[in-house]
Amino acid sequence: MDKTSTYQLLVKQVESLIEGENNTTGQLANAAALLHETMGWWWTGFYLVKDDVLQLGPFQGPVACYCIKRGRGVCGSAWEQNRTLVVPDVEQFPGHIACSSESRSEIVVPLHGPDGTVAGVLDIDSRELATFDDEDARWLEEIARVIERHALSNNSQPN
Ligand code: SME
Repeated sequence: MDKTSTYQLLVKQVESLIEGENNTTGQLANAAALLHETMGWWWTGFYLVKDDVLQLGPFQGPVACYCIKRGRGVCGSAWEQNRTLVVPDVEQFPGHIACSSESRSEIVVPLHGPDGTVAGVLDIDSRELATFDDEDARWLEEIARVIERHALSNNSQPN
């Protein structure tokens, strides 16, 4: 299946997997598992804003750092700038945080809470260079909107 068809299906699958549940941790864990299994990425997961830092949330892949400050690394920069960051070569990104020395490229997509501020990020790492492009960014942003609606809205608070 080509990338567009795969993502079209993924958007629907993520929605049917998490809609109607009231368990943010479980919903994010299942979303990470589905994305990770389908796409074969190296690390797929969430960092959530708590006490003014990004804290490690549900993920699939190797162990990762617990805390990322605002403006630090790719995740903290995506949070500060409130925009998706596509990094074709992590070694070229100043301040990149290497949780795994195997990671070569990365994409980070901000997630928003009900008040519109950044509530967390979806972070994906690849062992290949330049895995992610603008098309990945557009689809992952669509998936982020689904996650916001069903797992980060007022009727589905973290437990
Ligand atoms: N590389 C990220 C840190 C998180 S790990 O990739 C899981 C960064 O620079 O923010």
